[in-house]
Amino acid sequence: MDKDEVKKRIEKLRETINHYRYLYHVKDVSEISDEALDSLKKELFDLEQEYPDLITPDSPTQKIGGEPLEKFEKFKHPKRMTSFNDAFSQEDIYDWRDRNFRLLREEEKNSVEFYCEPKLDGLAIELIYRNGILEVGATRGDGIIGENVTSNLKTIESIPLRLRSKENIEKDLGKNINYNEIVVRGEAVLTKEEFKRINKERLDRGEEIYANPRNLAAGSIRQLNPKITSERNLDADFYSLVSDLGQKTHGEEHKILEILGLKTNNRYNKICKNLEEVFDYYEDLNKKRNDLPYEIDGVVVAINNNRIYEKLGIVGKAPRGAIAFKFPQKEATTIVNDVIFQTGRTGIVTPVAILKPVALEGVIISRTTLHNEDEIRRLNLKIGDTAVITRAGDVIPKVIRVLKEMRNGSEKEIIFPKKCSACDADLIKKDALWFCPKKDCYTRRYKTIVHFVSKPAFNIVGLGPNIVKDLLNKKLILDAADLFTLKKGDLLELEGFKKKASNNLINAILNSKRITLPRFIYSLSIPIVGIETANVLADRFNSIDNLKNSKKEDLEQIIDIGPIVANSIFSWFRDENNLAFMDKLLKNGVEIVFEKKENKLQGLSFVLTGTLKEMTRDDAKEMIRKAGGDISSSVSSRTDYVVVGENPGSKFDKAKKLGVKILNEEEFYEFIESL
Ligand code: IVH
Repeated sequence: MDKDEVKKRIEKLRETINHYRYLYHVKDVSEISDEALDSLKKELFDLEQEYPDLITPDSPTQKIGGEPLEKFEKFKHPKRMTSFNDAFSQEDIYDWRDRNFRLLREEEKNSVEFYCEPKLDGLAIELIYRNGILEVGATRGDGIIGENVTSNLKTIESIPLRLRSKENIEKDLGKNINYNEIVVRGEAVLTKEEFKRINKERLDRGEEIYANPRNLAAGSIRQLNPKITSERNLDADFYSLVSDLGQKTHGEEHKILEILGLKTNNRYNKICKNLEEVFDYYEDLNKKRNDLPYEIDGVVVAINNNRIYEKLGIVGKAPRGAIAFKFPQKEATTIVNDVIFQTGRTGIVTPVAILKPVALEGVIISRTTLHNEDEIRRLNLKIGDTAVITRAGDVIPKVIRVLKEMRNGSEKEIIFPKKCSACDADLIKKDALWFCPKKDCYTRRYKTIVHFVSKPAFNIVGLGPNIVKDLLNKKLILDAADLFTLKKGDLLELEGFKKKASNNLINAILNSKRITLPRFIYSLSIPIVGIETANVLADRFNSIDNLKNSKKEDLEQIIDIGPIVANSIFSWFRDENNLAFMDKLLKNGVEIVFEKKENKLQGLSFVLTGTLKEMTRDDAKEMIRKAGGDISSSVSSRTDYVVVGENPGSKFDKAKKLGVKILNEEEFYEFIESL
């Protein structure tokens, strides 16, 4: 982008962010996820860092969006309440440190330590104690003027109406203090449990439920009836001491807060000597996150030494000396730079969006499937668009929405090609999908064989994509069925293959010959038939012949199989080439075997989310299925168990909301073993 384009992009970003913030703060509607909005703000922040002369005082990076509501008495904060800039990756944290280090002297840099603490996801509050008595409690508002919500805050159990006595504090601190006025800041939060309870009650009454504990906490405090606040069982944790009680570091501040009699998170906090320690802390806290009683959305990393922190000062709405290191986001916004069309093993041509790289769930992604032409039309996506992408609940990232208000007129229509990009054949359209009709297209053959030998299919250990390529190039095989007639000597032609490697591979091929029906069906590369559908088909038809001879109506009648999938299966078994391939497999010694299902999990329905450490999700599903359990892709009140791995998706949140039993990976294995 040249500077002119950057300027326009910045203006669009500001307009869009302001629009959603207005809807959120004034109209009380949220039309975009917090995460997507954070992502837009981050892009704006990055562009402004690159072109500081384009920063304007009214930019959303410069001011806090939370004008006090008219219905409350206003309260002017004795010292401005700031917010944080966000970091989403280690790289962002390195950049933050380097920006600060440029402003420090050598000996200051060498002495820097980082104070790390959980970033609580609630509502920031300020309390003013005069002679130990709570006089004012206020929200942050726009940072300068907040709302006086004293009567509401007074109902919160963990907010003391009176601090510990001056004598006791002074005894613990070992020095005299000014007790006339003590100003502290912290966060009002709602525990996950309370959140669940309140939402359940609302659901029972047919009322709308709150999206997250933060909204509910904020809503409970920013309303006029203290009785409602008191019914909500809010909690508060304190992290900042504004008055000078002699603290030299942020760590000391936390200790003093406790001595004053305020609740802190000190047991989770840590002083880190360098960024590696910060990253370890972050990883560790992210793991503990689910076990904490309330929601946190990241780590606040602050320069521990208060003198250096103050010296670094404030830019815009945020202090330079601290940053919010956000946990992996399940949603982000990015730019769709291009769309390419890939022919897959079943001939389906899939549009793939090439994205401006962006962090999603802690990994940088740069491309995502758009599935088919209809999906592009449904999203109304154009090249150059700003899109919201997500991985919620799913492993594969996907575009869920286009932010049309970010368009500047230079976006281009996506034109579906008429020819296959791999072999130039004319594409044909069936239902919503475009196909390359050429079966002997090299790319297709290669991909089909890679699929055939993959773990959930024939699981031929040691036969990776490069060996498949080599086998095809040397004309040792033409299709997957040829694998079963390969001899040891044939393999010696392959690059890097000596006797031992050849023996191993031939044995692996032999061992794979006996295969269960679902795996066999899956291995055939029937368009839009994945492992789930293959299992359903195997259960229903019991043999490959029954499946082959099934009528379209039989297939359509199966729950879980829609008309398009039914059509795809039916047509596949009507194609002479496919039938010949199947016969060739059986002739070459492939044998379909039946596994007796145990019925330990009969009648129980499971949902899996997140990454498992010990096995792949497909293997875990197979384990459940073998024991007679059902797998479902979404959580509902009929779900019995949700198995949660690392970085779980929205299914985990839904399970919590619905009160479905949750098993972590270890508990899951124990559960299966205990039966
Ligand atoms: S402030 C030098 N600590 O972040 C660091 N703020 O305050 C001073 N927030 O929207 C500590 N958790 O609601 C601090 N542990 C935490 C926090 C925290 C959440 C929020 C707060 C406000 C923003 C800036």
